[in-house]
Amino acid sequence: MKGILLAGGSGSRLYPLTRVASKQLQPVYDKPMIYYPLTTLIEGGIREFCLISTPADLPRFQQLLGDGSEWGLTIEYREQSRPEGIAQAFRIAADFVGSDSVTLILGDNIFYGGDSFQKAFDTFGGGATVFGYHVTDPERYGVVEFDLAGRAMSIEEKPVHPKSNYAVPGLYLYDNEVIQIARDLKPGVRGELEITDVNVEYLRRGRLRVKQLSRGVAWLDAGTSTSLHEASAYVQTIERRQGIKVGCPEEAAFKRDFISLEALDALTHRLPRCEYRDYLCGVVAEAQSQQTRR
Ligand code: TTP
Repeated sequence: MKGILLAGGSGSRLYPLTRVASKQLQPVYDKPMIYYPLTTLIEGGIREFCLISTPADLPRFQQLLGDGSEWGLTIEYREQSRPEGIAQAFRIAADFVGSDSVTLILGDNIFYGGDSFQKAFDTFGGGATVFGYHVTDPERYGVVEFDLAGRAMSIEEKPVHPKSNYAVPGLYLYDNEVIQIARDLKPGVRGELEITDVNVEYLRRGRLRVKQLSRGVAWLDAGTSTSLHEASAYVQTIERRQGIKVGCPEEAAFKRDFISLEALDALTHRLPRCEYRDYLCGVVAEAQSQQTRR
């Protein structure tokens, strides 16, 4: 399965922060926002990525992430010249996806905890898999309504009167049909190619699975100043309490065997002296001591 990181948009709600740097490059506590969704997909076993952003921001992402080879990944880049909707990503990245299945994650969505995604990636057998997450403000999102057996009955984009409290987070898994579905899509009332319309089409075909995320999963969306601040505070709390980092692509790539311990050690030593490097040194030391104990 291939992975699309969608990191365009206008970020108007974060203005003036987003005047010179895109939303997904803003810091969430101790690292750029894009590290978090990237790490989520690496943890799910994805190695081939396409990052989509605005023409102005794309060079910054390239500077930050390069071609991915240092982390055992491949990362390609594509421009979205105007923010014409999340589903436009499948048109832009059609040649990258080829005949594969694909997962798309929004660059401002931060997930932590649980193994729901891992399981979804491991068991994905076609159609579409999306998730339902209980929130207090469903009207801001795509909202899914379940029947008594827990099957999805409807999905509505930003409904004025939500039929449930279950919002659909910005991580979606699709088979290759998504490319044609996105091609055939008409803009919705907001003039955008809506991801909810893609999901509605899979629902109509009887090919949509909506998995409820368990209480153990945190889903943070960092699109407003308040939620950005809250996301930073959340990450700081977890990291300080547990001594582990959330959203560390190097560590995730190592745990997934995308890079060897030697490669992790080498890239760690190329980093400037900083707390992030100290952390990775700790990961290397722990792995080395486990190897010698074996
Ligand atoms: P939004 O937060 O809905 O939009 P935005 O980022 O443009 O922000 P604002 O509403 O403050 O102007 O977008 C959700 C995510 O999807 C975000 O990571 C940006 C991304 N996105 C694109 O990359 N291209 C698009 O055309 C759209 C609509 C969103």
